[in-house]
Amino acid sequence: MNLSILGIPMDLGAGRRGVDMGPSALRNARLAGALRALGHHVHDLGDVPVAAPETADRHEHQGLVFRDSILSACRATYQQLAALPETVFPISLGGDHSVSMGTVAGAARGQRTGLIWVDAHTDYNTPQSSESGNIHGMPVAHLTGLGDPELSSIGGAWRLRPEDIVMIGIRSVDRAERELVRQAGIKIYTMKDVDQLGISRIAAETLERLSGTERLHVSFDADALDPSVAPGVGTPVPGGLSYREGHLLMELLSESQRVTSLDLVEVNPALDTRNATAEVMVGMAASLLGQQIM
Ligand code: ARG
Ligand code: MN
Ligand code: MN
Ligand code: MN
Repeated sequence: MNLSILGIPMDLGAGRRGVDMGPSALRNARLAGALRALGHHVHDLGDVPVAAPETADRHEHQGLVFRDSILSACRATYQQLAALPETVFPISLGGDHSVSMGTVAGAARGQRTGLIWVDAHTDYNTPQSSESGNIHGMPVAHLTGLGDPELSSIGGAWRLRPEDIVMIGIRSVDRAERELVRQAGIKIYTMKDVDQLGISRIAAETLERLSGTERLHVSFDADALDPSVAPGVGTPVPGGLSYREGHLLMELLSESQRVTSLDLVEVNPALDTRNATAEVMVGMAASLLGQQIM
């Protein structure tokens, strides 16, 4: 496959500094080399320009911290990805999860797209429901058309349909956010569901549910994994996916041969130990893109 890597070195949407170093950490953990070893052609597009928090305008547009700078970076991300040929598989490197307002819309290339959101959090806050004002807690709501009118139209008139979203690994949802997710009808597999049903059944149900979409995007937040596996994240929540659960999910999605784009986000080298979290995330990407045990 032709894979294109795009970095979005942005931490403006997160409550803590450091995920802006995520793209460097993932490249340093030999992302491109691991994918080339699987037979892929890998092209690194470099990084999208992102304002620095020290000089960016923090002004909280309707309670949205760094809204204008995030909007600019997400628009630039969208434009780069939307311009890629349809046969190219984009891998976007965050950056905090607000980058996905640009990556999902861009990777969709205007088509109906299923979204597999692997995360401890649902990231379905609106500017009104958010308790933190941090935009990395709001990307999915904006992709479905809620919230700030400009953030929700980064991809023009294109919208993600709530019925085309499946979330896996969920274990931290804000009170008002929970009502919004329920109202939208998004399919959620919490960690309780992972424990009860197993990842294998969840992967099969997810693919069945999203069988009607033309494209399939996986957005992998490193904090979906248990903090013992992925310590380098800004919003760790205990009780996450094990190393093998993460890999098995990627392996089963890989077998389907339906996934068309990927995000690796929320890797925070400033909170990591010896780049372990970036290395684990590179392993997840390799499993999604065909690495097999035998
Ligand atoms: N729900 C919290 C918030 O909205 C945490 C969001 C964490 N999101 C993330 N991408 N790590 O502030
Ligand atoms: Mn080039
Ligand atoms: Mn997230
Ligand atoms: Mn998260």
